[in-house]
Amino acid sequence: MSYNILGINPGHNGSACLVSDGELKYYLEEERLSRLKYDGNPFKSMIDIMSKYHVDELVIVGTYPDHPILPWTMEDVYTGLVRKHYPNVKTTLLGQEHHLTHASCAFYNSGFKKAIAVIVDGAGTYKDISMNEEGSVKAKGCETESVWACEYPSKFTVLHKVFGDNTQNRMVNDKFDVGNSVTIVKAYEAVTNYLGFSFLEAGKTMGLSSYGKDNTNIPQLFKDNRGSKDIFIPDYPRGAYIDDQSNPAFKRNRDPKNFHHNSNEVLDIEKDLAYKIQQETQEKVGDLIEQAISITGLKKVVLSGGYGLNCVANYYLQKRFPNIELYCEPISHDGGTAVGGAKLSWHERTNDKIIRKQTSLYYGPKYTENHVKSVVKSVENKYNTYVGNPKNVAELLSENKIVAIYQGSSEAGPRALGNRSILYNPTDPNGKDFVNKVKGREWFRPFAGTVLEENANEWFDFAGMKSSPFMMYAVDVKQDKIPAITHIDGTCRIQTINEKQNKNYYDVINEFKNITGVPIVFNTSFNLAGQPLVETVEDAIQTLEDSKMNYLYLPEINIILEKK
Ligand SMILES: [Fe+2]
Repeated sequence: MSYNILGINPGHNGSACLVSDGELKYYLEEERLSRLKYDGNPFKSMIDIMSKYHVDELVIVGTYPDHPILPWTMEDVYTGLVRKHYPNVKTTLLGQEHHLTHASCAFYNSGFKKAIAVIVDGAGTYKDISMNEEGSVKAKGCETESVWACEYPSKFTVLHKVFGDNTQNRMVNDKFDVGNSVTIVKAYEAVTNYLGFSFLEAGKTMGLSSYGKDNTNIPQLFKDNRGSKDIFIPDYPRGAYIDDQSNPAFKRNRDPKNFHHNSNEVLDIEKDLAYKIQQETQEKVGDLIEQAISITGLKKVVLSGGYGLNCVANYYLQKRFPNIELYCEPISHDGGTAVGGAKLSWHERTNDKIIRKQTSLYYGPKYTENHVKSVVKSVENKYNTYVGNPKNVAELLSENKIVAIYQGSSEAGPRALGNRSILYNPTDPNGKDFVNKVKGREWFRPFAGTVLEENANEWFDFAGMKSSPFMMYAVDVKQDKIPAITHIDGTCRIQTINEKQNKNYYDVINEFKNITGVPIVFNTSFNLAGQPLVETVEDAIQTLEDSKMNYLYLPEINIILEKK
C-alpha cells in the first residue's frame, strides 16, 4: 500500500495536497471550495482529500510552529480532524521553517538534481537567531529572503538569510542579515498599499508598472541593498508603508482608489512609482541570484516565495542570466508550501532520490461526466444547448464572443491554463477594455494568452526558453496582431501548449488558427474580479449568471451552453 502524506498550509492561500509515495496526486486551495478569497484554514480541502485517500501522515506547514490545541485530547486542531478518520496518523510540523518549505517545493518540482533556491517573500516564520557560534549574540525577526543550496534526498543548506523585525536594530554577519530594514517584498507591499490595493495584490502594481517611466522627482528607493528608510516605514509582519508625510513627491490630495476604474484619474507619481519599484526590486532579486551563483558555482536556480509570481521580473531574470537554468515555481505563493512540506517529509523519511519534474498543474479534484451532465440538465430552462466542439468554439471566438471553458481538474496556483479559463479573440483592438469591464477588473490590467507551442517563437521572444507551460513570464511580443493581450510595454504573459498537455484546449486554439491565421487565444482566469477561480461546474454556471458572459464550453460532454 502506498504511503500517503496530507500536506496543509494554514494561512493566507490556505491549501491542502496529497503526496503518495513521493508523487503529487492532489492540490487545492481552500478558497476554491469555500468561495472566500485567500481563505486560511483548509478544512474543506482536507475533508475532500480524506474522503478519497487514506492518510498515513499529516504535514502542517505555514508560518507558525504551533497551532490551537483541542481540549481533552490535547492535540492540534488539524491532527484532531484527521485522526477522526485515520486514528494512526502521524503529524509532522514544519511551520517553524516556512522558507525551507518554499525552497523544497520549488526544488523538487524543478527537475534539477542540484540547485540554488532563492526565496523572496513577505514574512515567513518568526525566529530567534544566533549571530555568533557561541550563541551569545541573539537577534530575532521573520524570514523575508533566503538563499539555499539544495540536494537530494533532502539536504537544504542556508547560504544567506534576511530577517525583519520592527524593533531589532540591524545586525549582519556572513550568513544572516537581521533587523528593521525594508526588504524587497516589504518595499513592494508599501507601494501596493500606496496605490490603494491590499498587500496581497502585488500583481496589480506590476500591471500598472508598465504604464510608468523614469521620474526624476522620485528618489532612489533602495540604498545599501535595502529599501530606503527615508521613503519606507516597515511594519513587520504585516507590510510596510510609504512615508508620504515626509516626502513631498508622494503627497496626494485624494483617495488612491480613485484611479482604479478611471484611467483619467491616474497620477504620474502612481504610474511612475509602480514602474520604479518593479525595476529596482527585480534588479535586487537578480543581485541575490548573482551572489548565490558566485558562492556556489551552481548554474541551476529555482525561484520561489510570493515574488516568484512576478512574471515581469521572471522575464527580466531570464534575460539577465542567459547562461543559467532558471525555474520559476508556479505555486510559489504560500499555497505551494503544503507541497514543499509533504515532499520534504517523504524524501527525509525514505532517502528517496527520484527526481519528479513538475509537468502539469491540473491537480484539483476530479468530477464525473455524469455529475456535469446532471448539473447541465438542471439549468436547461435557462440555456440553449448546442453541440460543442473545438471548431464551433473557435468560430464564436472569431466573432468576438466570450466563451468560458470548464473541464477536468482545476489548475494549482493562480494561473488558469485552459481547464478553468475565459477565452476571447486576441486580435480585437477593444478586447482588453471589453473583457476588463465584463470581469469587473481595473482598466490597466493586462490579459494573458495561450499559443500553440509549435508557433510560439514566431510570435514571442522567449529569451532562450523552449516553452512556457505554466505562464510564468511576460515576454516580448513580436507581431502587432494581438492587441487585446499585448500590454502597453509590448509584452504578454503567455502559456505555451501542446496536444499532450491539454488536447481539448489545444484543439480549440488550432481551430482558431485555421479560421484566423492566429495560433493564439486570449486566456484569463474563470472568475469575476475579487472572486476565487471557479472550481465546480455549479460555480461555473453561477459565474455566467452573475456576469454578461453568454457561452460555456464543456468539452468532456461536447456541449456549448448559451444563455437564453
Ligand atoms: Fe511565504
